[in-house]
Amino acid sequence: AADVQSEITEVLVTEEQILAKLEEVAAQVAVDYAGKELLLVGVLKGAVMVMADFSRALPGEVTMDWMAVSSYGTGTRSSGVVQIRKDLDTDLHDKHVLIVEDIIDSGLTLSWLLTNFASRGAASVEVFALLRKPDAAKVHVDCRYVGFEIPNEFVVGYGLDYAEKYRNLRDVAILAPHVYS
Ligand code: PRP
Ligand code: MN
Ligand code: MG
Repeated sequence: AADVQSEITEVLVTEEQILAKLEEVAAQVAVDYAGKELLLVGVLKGAVMVMADFSRALPGEVTMDWMAVSSYGTGTRSSGVVQIRKDLDTDLHDKHVLIVEDIIDSGLTLSWLLTNFASRGAASVEVFALLRKPDAAKVHVDCRYVGFEIPNEFVVGYGLDYAEKYRNLRDVAILAPHVYS
């Protein structure tokens, strides 16, 4: 594999900070969902790492499902027109759903997902996003749990990719502009 260090300008959030935050959020979620059956819905592929560590930080029993969506259009960023590549295997009826995402950037993906989930009869639908970029928001997303608010930079690692690369980096880091310009 190529030398990753030269492709990164700055580590924004370390693995240690991420894992500590996941423990904190998991403790809060455990309290908020006490006595309820919780279904975690991970959004492929970026949320894989968050889901793996967050679900194991939760003390109680949970079920997990996955959804794969892709936004298409002319730009490289999310267009807000989202296509389902893989739907849930689970019927959401009467379920307490917590959508697990790696990042809210423009907000278009989650905004679309929340609208899509609204008609599926869930008892509740909330969102946990590890990262959020307030300065990149194009639409407001009601997100109950946020890990870290970060500046509007192109970040990779801990599930986040550029052209499918860098997802396996342990930290969240800013990608050097020379990589994508
Ligand atoms: C990324 C990220 C979020 C979404 C956030 O997914 O994982 O799902 O973009 O962007 P938005 O708020 O502007 O919609 P991407 O579409 O790159 O797919 P991936 O998870 O497979 O990398
Ligand atoms: Mn994603
Ligand atoms: Mg991506």
